[in-house]
Amino acid sequence: MKAIASAPAKIILAGEHFVVYGEPAIVMAIDCYAKVSVKDRNDNVIHIASNLGFSGSFKGNRFQPDHGGLGAHKILEPIRIASQTALKELKEESGLNIVIKSEIPVAAGLGSSGALAVATVAAVGKFFGVNFTKEKIVNLSFEAERFVHGKPSGIDQAISTNGGIIVYKKNQGITPIKVKKKIPLIIGNTGELRSTGDLVKAVKIKRDRFPKIIDPLIKTAGHLTTKAIKTLKSGDLTKFGELMNINHGLLSAIGVSNKTLDNFVHVAIEAGALGAKLTGAGGGGCMIALSPLKKRKKIAKAIKNAGGTPIISSKVDEGVKSWIQK
Ligand code: PMV
Repeated sequence: MKAIASAPAKIILAGEHFVVYGEPAIVMAIDCYAKVSVKDRNDNVIHIASNLGFSGSFKGNRFQPDHGGLGAHKILEPIRIASQTALKELKEESGLNIVIKSEIPVAAGLGSSGALAVATVAAVGKFFGVNFTKEKIVNLSFEAERFVHGKPSGIDQAISTNGGIIVYKKNQGITPIKVKKKIPLIIGNTGELRSTGDLVKAVKIKRDRFPKIIDPLIKTAGHLTTKAIKTLKSGDLTKFGELMNINHGLLSAIGVSNKTLDNFVHVAIEAGALGAKLTGAGGGGCMIALSPLKKRKKIAKAIKNAGGTPIISSKVDEGVKSWIQK
């Protein structure tokens, strides 16, 4: 018998970076999943196998890689932390065999580590007969996210756990919003790895140098996200697309876009997207294009021709789920 849990990836629809300065951001769960299966074993070893090119065993503080060399430690350690945090909560001392199958690209701003932590916690709970509440899953997966991101806001675990669309504001937490319309998106992955922390720092430096110029942009982004929330609720995707384009311009102005992202945004719009913007920290990673259903293939092809990896995706309303497989 084993327990399996799956949790969705996320994209930021509006407000990244500006959220650091107190403005709201909109985050959405997408149909791209991390799946984790868990089984006990009769020693104290936590063995993690993954389709990410890394696997290995943790015995106490010692890590022994099977695949991926010592680099495997950095990727697998958050999974170990998430599983042991869940075991501690359950007051269980078992070893575990954990198998990861993830469709979410790593270090691309799509919340891969958050989804993996959430699915791990839920699967460990399920294996020992406990359905953790959503709140508990968010809290128990926090430590793993701190290992990966240093000081995360917690938004990635929240969206992977709850699904749907969430508005996030610093110090106010999350507000789920109901959006009836489908939100068909093409994600364009540049394949360029970047560090969220470095980009957040670069924005701070720019703001310190030009406060009278950057502060009004932050305020404008806040107005934009507030308008975007209303527009999403009303289902006006054409207007939402226009707001995405302005949002990309603001992100460009604060210096977090790059040539590849700008190019993908332009080719997507030329191919019929209603709007496009970088998503997440920028400087590489991914962009998103809002696509009329009939234009999805054309936009995906345009991004591919420009050198990116397109991922056709949509909003999912369900967050983490877990089940037992006999
Ligand atoms: O690329 P991601 O998903 O790590 O996006 C980070 C979002 C920022 O607003 C740039 C930073 C933050 O902590 O909110």
